[in-house]
Amino acid sequence: MQQFVPLMRSTTIRILCSLVLLISLTDAQTMTIAQRVDSLLRLMTLDEKVGQLNQYTDDGVATGPVTLDKDKPQQVKQGKLGSILNVLGGERTRSWQKIAMQSRLRIPLLFGQDVVHGYKTTFPIPLAEACSWDLEAMERAARIAAVEASAGGVHWTFAPMVDISRDPRWGRVMEGAGEDTYLGSQIAAARVRGFQGKGIGQTDAVMACVKHFAAYGAAVGGRDYNSVDMSDRMLWETYLPPFKAALDAGAGTFMNSFNDLNGIPATGNSYLMRDILKGKWNFSGFVVSDWGSVGEMINHGSVKDPADAARSAILAGCDMDMESRCYTGTLAKLVTDGVVPMAVVDDAVRRILTKKFELGLFDDPYRFCDPKREAKALNEPAHAAAARDMARKSIVLLKNEKNILPISKGTKTIAFIGPLVKAVKQNKGFWDVELPGVDSNFIVTQWEGLQEKIGKHSTLLYAKGCEIEGNDRSGFAEAVETAKKADVVILSIGERRDMSGEAKSRSDLSIPGVQVELAMELLKTGKPVVVLINAGRPLVFNELADAAPAILYTWWLGSEAGNAIADVLFGDYNPSAKLAMTFPRSVGQIPIYYNYYNTGRPATGDNDRFYRSAYIDLSIHPRYEFGYGLGYSPFTYSGLKLSVGSMSMTGTIQASVTITNAGKYAGEEVVQLYLRDLVGSIIRPMKELKDFRKIALAPGESKTITFTIDKEKLSFYDQHVQWVAEPGEFELMIGASSRDIRQKERFTLTK
Ligand code: NOJ
Repeated sequence: MQQFVPLMRSTTIRILCSLVLLISLTDAQTMTIAQRVDSLLRLMTLDEKVGQLNQYTDDGVATGPVTLDKDKPQQVKQGKLGSILNVLGGERTRSWQKIAMQSRLRIPLLFGQDVVHGYKTTFPIPLAEACSWDLEAMERAARIAAVEASAGGVHWTFAPMVDISRDPRWGRVMEGAGEDTYLGSQIAAARVRGFQGKGIGQTDAVMACVKHFAAYGAAVGGRDYNSVDMSDRMLWETYLPPFKAALDAGAGTFMNSFNDLNGIPATGNSYLMRDILKGKWNFSGFVVSDWGSVGEMINHGSVKDPADAARSAILAGCDMDMESRCYTGTLAKLVTDGVVPMAVVDDAVRRILTKKFELGLFDDPYRFCDPKREAKALNEPAHAAAARDMARKSIVLLKNEKNILPISKGTKTIAFIGPLVKAVKQNKGFWDVELPGVDSNFIVTQWEGLQEKIGKHSTLLYAKGCEIEGNDRSGFAEAVETAKKADVVILSIGERRDMSGEAKSRSDLSIPGVQVELAMELLKTGKPVVVLINAGRPLVFNELADAAPAILYTWWLGSEAGNAIADVLFGDYNPSAKLAMTFPRSVGQIPIYYNYYNTGRPATGDNDRFYRSAYIDLSIHPRYEFGYGLGYSPFTYSGLKLSVGSMSMTGTIQASVTITNAGKYAGEEVVQLYLRDLVGSIIRPMKELKDFRKIALAPGESKTITFTIDKEKLSFYDQHVQWVAEPGEFELMIGASSRDIRQKERFTLTK
């Protein structure tokens, strides 16, 4: 029926439209969103419907291979575009929206943006934040990003990225929450809560887009965009739960992914989108493709041309086409030819319009671009304070021999050396937002942070030493001379910020260039050297790890990097972060993760001849395990007690343990609970994180904490991919890392 509408006389259309718009305005209070969507849908031509399913980037900002269209404004006027991504700033979003208001049905545009770790205020990269294990802080970071972005006209963020990843060669590990499903699920939900605040439609909230559905993190060889081949059980047990957690937290949209899953591209995968997401999980929001991924199915070899790609994607449940231009060129014909049912297109349009209504855009299309609110939100001192807090919580102390950290504030001369000391933008990490007209000095460099901290008490010396990359050693001599003049040397080295991120897979995970050599030269001076490693992924640095007395893994910390690093170096913050990803000893150990299955010949030590399911040239252990991280105070664990020794399927067990701060610094400890099902119809991992608490303790203080074990924590997917708990014996382990188990007990689950 709709395709005949263009044939009607334009005056009739205008009267009809005005009538319906009037109805939708006057009845807005009484009509439900579903009714408003339906009345609008009835007015739309097929081309206008397809337009709603189409998303382009704003010209000039590329987060993928850009196709420039000169007539984009014209297309918006013709209702050929439902959404634009990468529109930066309130003014620009307003001007695009004005154009949309000249279209026949005045359907507002939806503005999407990768607000991944902040908008103007840049927070640490998500993997770094994950190491804080501080859900409230991560929720706050996402909240602030939403407050800033929504004031700048952004309706929708392409975050959180919830892909579990066990391969640090993959550059996108920086964007997620690491390797663990339980921790990743908690963080996914916290970030959705943060972005969406009190709900979609609040002017200080942005709609979340959970990505990349699904299994993108398991790309073969850690090569970006690569294939994924995994069992259904692995998919359900390890990779899907963070998506489900994000959905349960209310996430409005999902993004599918570039990879194929067991031979079917995720973008055209109806098992993922129709059966699981929109079927079993009853997801009522919409799915956007990844950038160009609809058209890229031609390269995958699953479809023959753009029309075939559009058919495959829309039928599989991909509602919006980001940038591939397949829907816009072919979908209307596919419908008129009867290849794609109109009902499928209507369903996709309905899902998108519903979100536009929920956002309140039909009531006021400009409600998210308010210059006053924007100016205030982008200059809020509380945001910088939160970024500093998040950043210091993200720094992982890997080594601290002879307690050389924290550095005493009375230290006379400090040498601050390395290519990252005075770097500005490097601190922002990969997914920063480049706002027009915003001064990049908004970043507190590491040099500035330290200067501010030591004030006039100490002398701060500087030498660059070398570049991040290349083999120029000409700065070594000056660096060594500078170190010799100091009481303490701080060396800041690492990756370039864009060596991790999308399309940034690396086969060599060493610290680039001659930076480690520089470190070795400085260590030869005999001065205490504290090494800061800035990176977007776990790197391999065994020589340095053995030789340096103190190492802080700082990741990329964002706007407040310098202040946060200074706080930790001088003990104004006691580091509390724990690794959310295993650090390998060598690229050859990858994939490496803590929750592996035992083999029939489990490695019991490094020297067993036959019982050695690892490599002859490497320790069986990673360099730093999941959950590892030191602080300035040791914590002791004692008195593990289980309320009962056995529980039924409907029962629970309380496990309590006492943690004591045995040092002289107040601090926080992440107490980790792991479980192992000793005998199962499907073999179970050696241990799985099932709960954790982050607690603050004053020096000498003790706290008893209690975990509750219920059937849910003991369940897993069986061979029929059913979620079951099997009676039998379990081991409960409580520790300071996945390897550093301090207390354990066994209990039984009965029928
Ligand atoms: C491609 C990335 O994979 C995705 O995560 C991102 O949201 C889009 N580009 C848009 O920038």
